[in-house]
Amino acid sequence: MSNNVVLQCQDLKKSYQDAGRKVEVLKGVDFQVSAGESISIIGASGSGKSTLLHLLGGLDSSTSGDVLINGKSIQRMSAKEQGLWRNQHLGFIYQFHHLLPEFTALENIAMPLFIRGDNKAASLQAARSMIEKVGLSDRETHKPAELSGGERQRIAIARALVTNPLCILADEPTGNLDEENAERVYQMMLDLNQELQTSLIVVTHDKKLASRAERQLSIVGGVLSE
Ligand SMILES: Nc1ncnc2c1ncn2[C@@H]1O[C@H](COP(=O)(O)OP(=O)(O)OP(=O)(O)O)[C@@H](O)[C@H]1O
Ligand SMILES: [Mg+2]
Repeated sequence: MSNNVVLQCQDLKKSYQDAGRKVEVLKGVDFQVSAGESISIIGASGSGKSTLLHLLGGLDSSTSGDVLINGKSIQRMSAKEQGLWRNQHLGFIYQFHHLLPEFTALENIAMPLFIRGDNKAASLQAARSMIEKVGLSDRETHKPAELSGGERQRIAIARALVTNPLCILADEPTGNLDEENAERVYQMMLDLNQELQTSLIVVTHDKKLASRAERQLSIVGGVLSE
């Protein structure tokens, strides 16, 4: 495996047992992600996009196959190791921001650093530099309820990037925004991906947005194609 491969997905399969019936969602997915690459994934509703992202992030286990992050198999790690690896190497962005309501925008961004036990002042300093990158320095002390939908997603992007991860996994990150905001937030993710050389895997149903990533993948019938 070459050095600049940050994530590798090997013959990944996932099926669910549903009322005695086996539902095969992923039937052998293979691909790899290089450092700094942006990749979009499209597919019909129910095609397995979220399932794939969960497996890539070690949030769910595969039926067979493996995911290597920075060369290490997450399937073979203990839950505790997975949590550490995830905190260290991955960032997550979802359709709903999942910001903690009782914390300020700045504290929410610093949260992954607090969780890993970093020094509080240093964590807030890192969060301050990220909030600047998403253009919201004047909203540092706002609680999530005091932010617009687009602003909340920009805070969620800053939170995902604050640990300087190898790869961001984003599941419909603009799905909840109007067209103009979706456009702006999506472009911001691509720009930061370039600036910070963080890889980005983004699931979107918007073909126009998807086409702006360096590589476009689609899931059809449980198989991923380029
Ligand atoms: N825990 C589960 N148990 C049983 N079936 C599941 C489970 N999670 C997902 N599925 C099924 O797996 C398939 C893929 O679901 P997934 O959420 O990955 O789709 P998706 O591509 O993200 O769809 P959407 O675009 O609607 O978000 C669906 O048919 C779903 O019903
Ligand atoms: Mg989904």
